[in-house]
Amino acid sequence: MNNGFIISAYVISSILFILSLGGLSNQETSRRGNIYGMIGMAIAIVATLMSDQVSNYVLILIPVIFGGAIGAYFAARVEMTAMPELVAILHSFVGLAATLVGFATYLDPAAHFVGVEKTIHDVEIYLGILIGAVTFTGSVVAYGKLNGSIGSKALILPARHFLNLGILIACIILGKFFIGAESVSSGMLPLILMTILALAFGVHMVMAIGGADMPVVISMLNSYSGWAAAATGFMLSNDLLIVVGALVGSSGAILSYIMCRAMNRKFLSVIMGGFGTTTGGSGGGSSEGEQTEVTPITAAETADLLTESNSLVIVPGYGMAVAHAQHLVSELTKKLRDKDIDVKFAIHPVAGRMPGHMNVLLAEAKVPYDIVLEMDEINDDLAETDVVMVIGANDIVNPSAIDEPDSPIAGMPVLEVWNAKSVIVMKRSMASGYAGVENPLFFKDNTQMLFGDAKESVETIVASL
Ligand code: TAP
Repeated sequence: MNNGFIISAYVISSILFILSLGGLSNQETSRRGNIYGMIGMAIAIVATLMSDQVSNYVLILIPVIFGGAIGAYFAARVEMTAMPELVAILHSFVGLAATLVGFATYLDPAAHFVGVEKTIHDVEIYLGILIGAVTFTGSVVAYGKLNGSIGSKALILPARHFLNLGILIACIILGKFFIGAESVSSGMLPLILMTILALAFGVHMVMAIGGADMPVVISMLNSYSGWAAAATGFMLSNDLLIVVGALVGSSGAILSYIMCRAMNRKFLSVIMGGFGTTTGGSGGGSSEGEQTEVTPITAAETADLLTESNSLVIVPGYGMAVAHAQHLVSELTKKLRDKDIDVKFAIHPVAGRMPGHMNVLLAEAKVPYDIVLEMDEINDDLAETDVVMVIGANDIVNPSAIDEPDSPIAGMPVLEVWNAKSVIVMKRSMASGYAGVENPLFFKDNTQMLFGDAKESVETIVASL
């Protein structure tokens, strides 16, 4: 196929991907953003299949059909609550692909480079495999931490910073041997050793992150998967893959920065395991002199309280996703607004288990966008609010982040719901949230606990109204 045609198709795809990212930055345009992305990807695949480099269609179509069927099956079945771990495992595939493409490119008998060209080619392979291997194992561990098969607590090895530094120095030395190697056979050993170290580093890096800092790691792995794809693009001399990889890599890096700012963390400290790892205070409400009893409330009493109020702020969290309560919450909102009660939603940037998790759920349940406010937009108004209803949220409304300097979540901005006149917390038990920190909010004088599954509780409130 004409090379000009392929390049034009790649340019159109790139533009569509940029439009897609632009669309995804806003709830109202996100659907359109997804459609741009899908069309861009379809054009990219068709153009790549038509390029001169592709000759054996059978060899390509078999894995495409097989892999596509597996992907479609899992994507169709995945629960909204399991979406974050699906994304994490997909990132791991990008890392694995970059690693395998790196080895395949190095072993390719048709690749004959000399002089500077050889050095550049070797650097591409080395970096591609390095980033790919870290992304692969890091994402697999993140997958385990998100689905609960690996505990969310940070694993702190002694002298972990020296361990990281040692791996970095070893990778630099091995890189020197690899690039200076005269033949493929002599370059293979340093390449394999570096791959093993990078795989180990990926595991260590994510294992050392405490639960509360997982959002930064997830966006960072998202960024790494983009750079791994870009590295694959360099190795395969595919311009589109380089552009797409750079788009994902840079947007993931910006997201990591936003996440760090939202959590008041320094990026480097998080990836070196410096936060979310303290063994200090539990942040619990049971410390000396503090109230240790909680005040329960029933769903019917909650309905009465809501009917008597003028303003309500709903704070959704991971528990709302687990309970699939969003549609009933939307129904409750409508009923209360029909009674002229001012209802708003307060969204914490790391509520749930993935960026924008709550926004997606509320949009799915058709909650109007204009009453869904970000933490910074609403925090100051909470003191003027009659009732705050916390639905399955915990860490994001934990006052320890402000009051307890030793707490693993110290410094993380939280929704200051306790400033409202009355707070109702819906959850099933006194269990802690993802960060494993006790929450003194539950013991405050103006807090009442509505125990039970969030969906059932909201259903009863709606019925009582
Ligand atoms: P969490 O702190 O995880 O708290 C969720 C609460 O929901 C739990 O305390 C749980 O208590 C309750 N719950 C669970 N199932 C429920 C059900 N069926 N009905 C009612 N309640 C239920 O959630 P959050 O406040 O949204 O905070 C998010 C946490 O996850 C933060 O620590 C954040 O750093 C971390 N994280 C976020 C992300 C992103 S990107 N958003 C990614 C990874 C990790 P019971 O068991 O007592 O019911």
